[in-house]
Amino acid sequence: MTQSLTIRRPDDWHLHLRDGAMLQAVLPETARHFARAIIMPNLVPPVVTMADAAAYRDRIMAALPEGARFTPLMTLYLTEETDPDDLAAAHAAGLVTAVKLYPAGATTNSASGVSNFENVLPVLERMAEIGCPLCVHGEVTDREIDIFDREAVFIERVLDPIRARVPGLRVIMEHITTRDGADYVMENAQDLAATITIQHLMFDRNDMLVGGMRPHYYCLPILKRREHREALLAAAISGDSRFFLGTDSAPHPTHAKEATCCAAGCFTAPIALSCLASTFEEAGALDKLEGFTSLHGPAFYGLPANEDTITLTKGAPLEYPATIPAGEHTVTVFDPGQPLHWHVTP
Ligand code: DOR
Ligand code: ZN
Repeated sequence: MTQSLTIRRPDDWHLHLRDGAMLQAVLPETARHFARAIIMPNLVPPVVTMADAAAYRDRIMAALPEGARFTPLMTLYLTEETDPDDLAAAHAAGLVTAVKLYPAGATTNSASGVSNFENVLPVLERMAEIGCPLCVHGEVTDREIDIFDREAVFIERVLDPIRARVPGLRVIMEHITTRDGADYVMENAQDLAATITIQHLMFDRNDMLVGGMRPHYYCLPILKRREHREALLAAAISGDSRFFLGTDSAPHPTHAKEATCCAAGCFTAPIALSCLASTFEEAGALDKLEGFTSLHGPAFYGLPANEDTITLTKGAPLEYPATIPAGEHTVTVFDPGQPLHWHVTP
């Protein structure tokens, strides 16, 4: 039985760091274990220009704890007004790694997202030309489409047509939650990949809803049926390099989660790797962990894998706080529903 595992330092290919006191509170939790992360631009107001991304990057660097080695990979929030030249300049300068597409109204702070996809085709064409990848929140927002079907319908009605219209565009389907998402990636060429979160590998909608509603498991896209969780796990442990980790760790103050209308997001960053090691171990696939956390992502983004390593060691149940302070509030840490035995040594 494996008790210790040394792997290349992981990266997080989808992360929400927020701003201000929340940024101060949550950044150390990611920087402790991860070398790099793709930073989501859904601030209020969103990160839409090169200047916004530069300023946000500076605020992140200023919030890093002493001695931390962490590189934020910045993204721009795609709007129908995005200027292709500004984006190309930001990408050429190495400031912006990718662009994020939120369908308008799909999730937290997505009001400035895209309503008419025709209007962003020129930007997407420019991205294909310069090799800037597109990160996609893959859910339609039409009221008549059931929330559990929104990912599958998005693939058919939006993503597939966009990919047909803009050949060569590299796309990351973020936080896929269905068998449909995993199958779509597997059936397609190498210019398509997907990230998977921890909560979607560990839980299904029954865990969120049976015996009472558990708001800390509510995120978007929402947890689906068990068969979808099984398909995602199969993809994650398959060794297929088109699947990699994007935690989508998305902190909200505890009071906003434990509310009449609860905010979407799971704050997994503090225990992300322990959760993953447990999940991969249970699936008999610890040998596939390094690919998922540390190799496949850099390969798709055209970046080198990290040279340094972390060591995971199995031992006594991990102790970690149930909440962490964030300014005047707290943030509740994701509940893995079981003791975690994998300890990370940076
Ligand atoms: O659950 C989520 N939370 N899904 C998203 O797409 C956004 C995120 C957030 O920003 O809170
Ligand atoms: Zn997200």
